[in-house]
Amino acid sequence: MLRFSLIAAAAVALTLAACQKVDDAAKVDGARIEAAEGNGEWLSYGRTYSEQRHSPLTKVNAENVSQLGLAWFAEFDTDRGQEATPIVVDGVLYTTTSWSKVHAFNAKTGEKLWSYDPQVNRAKGFDACCDVVNRGVAVWQGRVYVGTLDGRLVALNASTGKPDWTVQTTDNAQPYTITGAPRVIKGKVLIGNGGAEYGVRGYITAYDAASGKQAWRFYTTPNPKGEADGAASDKVIAEKTKATWFGEGWKATGGGGTVWDAMAYDPALDLLYIGVGNGSPWNHKVRSDGKGDNLFVSSIVALRPDTGEYVWHYQTTPGESWDYTATQHIMLADLPIDGATRRVVMQAPKNGFFYVLDARTGAFISAKPYTTINWATGVDQTGRPAEVPGARYPASPFLALPGPYGAHNWHPMAFNPKEGLVYIPVIDMPYAYGDDPGYRHTQGAWNTAIDSVVNALPTDAATAKAVQAMMGGKLVAWDPVAQKARWTVKHAYYWNAGVLSTAGGLVFQGDAEGKFAAYGAADGKPLWSHDAGQGIIAPASTYEIDGEQYVAVMVGQGGAGATSANSLMGNRPRLPGRLLVFKLGGTATAPKYEIPEVPTLDLSAVKTTGDAERGFRTFQAFCQVCHDGRAAGNFMPDLKKSPMILSAESFKGVVIDGLNAPKGMASFSRFLNATQAEDIRAFILQEAKATAAPPSKG
Ligand code: HEC
Repeated sequence: MLRFSLIAAAAVALTLAACQKVDDAAKVDGARIEAAEGNGEWLSYGRTYSEQRHSPLTKVNAENVSQLGLAWFAEFDTDRGQEATPIVVDGVLYTTTSWSKVHAFNAKTGEKLWSYDPQVNRAKGFDACCDVVNRGVAVWQGRVYVGTLDGRLVALNASTGKPDWTVQTTDNAQPYTITGAPRVIKGKVLIGNGGAEYGVRGYITAYDAASGKQAWRFYTTPNPKGEADGAASDKVIAEKTKATWFGEGWKATGGGGTVWDAMAYDPALDLLYIGVGNGSPWNHKVRSDGKGDNLFVSSIVALRPDTGEYVWHYQTTPGESWDYTATQHIMLADLPIDGATRRVVMQAPKNGFFYVLDARTGAFISAKPYTTINWATGVDQTGRPAEVPGARYPASPFLALPGPYGAHNWHPMAFNPKEGLVYIPVIDMPYAYGDDPGYRHTQGAWNTAIDSVVNALPTDAATAKAVQAMMGGKLVAWDPVAQKARWTVKHAYYWNAGVLSTAGGLVFQGDAEGKFAAYGAADGKPLWSHDAGQGIIAPASTYEIDGEQYVAVMVGQGGAGATSANSLMGNRPRLPGRLLVFKLGGTATAPKYEIPEVPTLDLSAVKTTGDAERGFRTFQAFCQVCHDGRAAGNFMPDLKKSPMILSAESFKGVVIDGLNAPKGMASFSRFLNATQAEDIRAFILQEAKATAAPPSKG
């Protein structure tokens, strides 16, 4: 008995000592984040508040990067997209996976310390336009913060992974989701949300980091009922934003403008910068009678972090009508402009222009297209894009570059101050925009007021060839002062990973084919690569422990590029996510992925009463966002090979009765009836019979 309790007491003491150590280790605050210059850690999403994603570490450099090998790895229990940036604080690495799960590892050895599963209801996956992803945690004063897909902000004890407090930041009856990483500024946790494709009103909220008590909220669009919200945004909505909205269309959807990704902070100016998303519905004619700029859609907005008070805004796409968000990575830097050093905000939003703005005032400095675009010819002296005739698809469809993926999406950029280069993961992917003549707002469904069939239609050889020629992905090293590319690395597909820059003269980026590579910072020369076995979309981070530098990256294709157009990405199957951590001379090996073979079905005897043409339209409106425009691709189950299409009953069981809801395929009974489901089945059967099943390859 005595012996037992002594051992137990010793164990308790040990645990306490361990807790104490981790608790101390996780004592991150603003001074420490800003002092991150020499400490070899990665303390916040973009490393420091300026979000440059440039590490001062040089142990791994252009001379020795060829010796980089795997130090350790972990495999996860989720197989959807992995977008997180690993955060490293005093020897502990914190990361998240799809379905908003959090994991803590010993950053040197890879030993798992704890995991936290917020148990997100898988039916919530229906509200996620772009996969059930999560981009990572924030760490502050002994707590780890995660935003969950179902709109919770959870504060975990950094040493145990146990929830300390939880707040619901959204109305869960609405199609809000959280995929972005929180930031913590001056003791307040900031979190936004997404959902503008389905119909929500965007906002960002600040919570007290210790207690979870709400400090302030800022709405990016006016209140549809015309009422005051009792929020930090009330004044600017009354004075500025309200007058820029017209008609009734936006009132049903809330106007969009979700703050689903970028934030940055300048401690000297005490300004928080937030990136604001697209309008809802996308189509400006429906949303706002085709009139008005619709503030703060597609804007960067500068706020006071203590109060949420509005300071300035800059709108990149006034009256946007193409899903051209300005939620993309916001970065702060000191640039030499006209002979003086200026503190600037930089962004490469979806619309294809690279913006440089004055960080204090938001004044426009310059903007140039960072890739081929065709919707505008340039910008005027205020930065307002000069649109080409027809860009707003007034009568006929417009095949636009970029499309809704943007010329750049959430995948973070990086900035090397020595080279003066911003590395941009560029997407070249067109989209045919056209009015949806049958548009009716259906709350919770896909509400873009764009005819998705128009985009799916051009299959004649000439159009297909033209579209193919427009498609591609690349890493562009952009000189933001000269506003031109210095070098470009081309990729095989358009949906590639975020970027890491290091003072070792390296740029790290993964790609859709699973190659994690290091390029020379000055010239883009390929210096090293590792085959991860499946596509990478997440940006890497880097850190140093006991004199060794590590490079960590989450592996796992996913996001909108994998769900809605997998067949254009090489038909890659969905595979478990991994965390790969490299160091010089690392000798670990991760096992090869087993690629499941999906047999083709014998459909010769299968009958349907459905109408394939009607089913095609319904499929485009409700299914293509996850199941690929031609019901192809292996990321979600290839419906052409799904045994569920063999009978009307089994298909209805999944689509209407929600039998696969626990796997993330919610019931569509709110939107569709059994006849419509049968029409969709007829379309899939037609596709399955017409196309020889594409070979699956890793
Ligand atoms: C928000 C994303 C999303 C949307 C939209 C969506 N699905 Fe799914 N679907 C899923 C997921 C996730 C699964 C399950 C994946 C798995 O098996 O792990 C699935 C599975 C299925 C399956 C079962 C396939 C099999 O063999 O297991 C069918 C059939 C299906 N979906 C049909 C549809 C149809 C028809 C629509 C449109 C009415 C639709 N889905 C819309 C995400 C979606």
